[in-house]
Amino acid sequence: MRVVIQENYDNMSKWAARYIASRINAHKEDRPFVLGLATGSSPIGVYEELVKMNKAGEVSFANVVTFNMDEYVGLPREHDQSYWYFMHYYLFDHLTDMKPENINILNGMAEDLDAECAKFEEKMASYGGVDLFLGGIGVDGHIAFNEPYTSLSSRTGVRNLTTDTRIVNSRFFGNDPEAVPAQALSVGVATVTESKEVLILINGHNKAKALAKTVQGGVSAKWTCSALQNHNGAIIACDEPACGELTVDAYKYFLDIEKKERL
Ligand code: GLP
Repeated sequence: MRVVIQENYDNMSKWAARYIASRINAHKEDRPFVLGLATGSSPIGVYEELVKMNKAGEVSFANVVTFNMDEYVGLPREHDQSYWYFMHYYLFDHLTDMKPENINILNGMAEDLDAECAKFEEKMASYGGVDLFLGGIGVDGHIAFNEPYTSLSSRTGVRNLTTDTRIVNSRFFGNDPEAVPAQALSVGVATVTESKEVLILINGHNKAKALAKTVQGGVSAKWTCSALQNHNGAIIACDEPACGELTVDAYKYFLDIEKKERL
């Protein structure tokens, strides 16, 4: 596992955007580059940077197919807190060459939610799997909407959200936890860890414990993000404030191993 420590949120975002662009540009196969995407405040800076690079002709999305990690159950696309809305608002509407038919976002309004999730997994597989999954984590270490104690071998399915997550996410719903949907559709932990590469953004003091649990200590379903320790292509891009609970030896190790600039 690589842990790339950047001074602040802006630098972390720029680093991650450059990494994603470099992977898309290096993709020379006939099949499209399959990119997993996430919502939340963490990736907004990456999306802004990718839009700039796309407009400057530094990265094309013409041969990119995307799959988003999750979506609330019961929110229509037009709802300003749906993840469909978020992704178009922050990324898709601004890319010059993203094909709408290449965007895949779970439909939280589907009549048969289980069938919707199964279809999503099948579609990912039909492209030969995900090349790179971009994600964030919750303060409790949840990856996508895989709350603590979700099986590390879980697949895409319906998830009940914890009270904690609804409280944290209530900042987007008028500070009313009850207004936050109680369920979501989410890729599983194994759906993410089967991706060839995983890039997780962890920033801010409030994620310090989650970062420590992700990278040091044992793999445990209590911290679903810790499953990444067993992934051969996992990268954590983080900022200094998020490093506050790393042990000194882990912090020094990651700085040392990454000191030679590489993407
Ligand atoms: C939600 C999303 C996660 C995201 C998390 C963190 O719960 N389902 O995919 O990683 O929020 O959000 P933020 O980046 O705003 O801290």
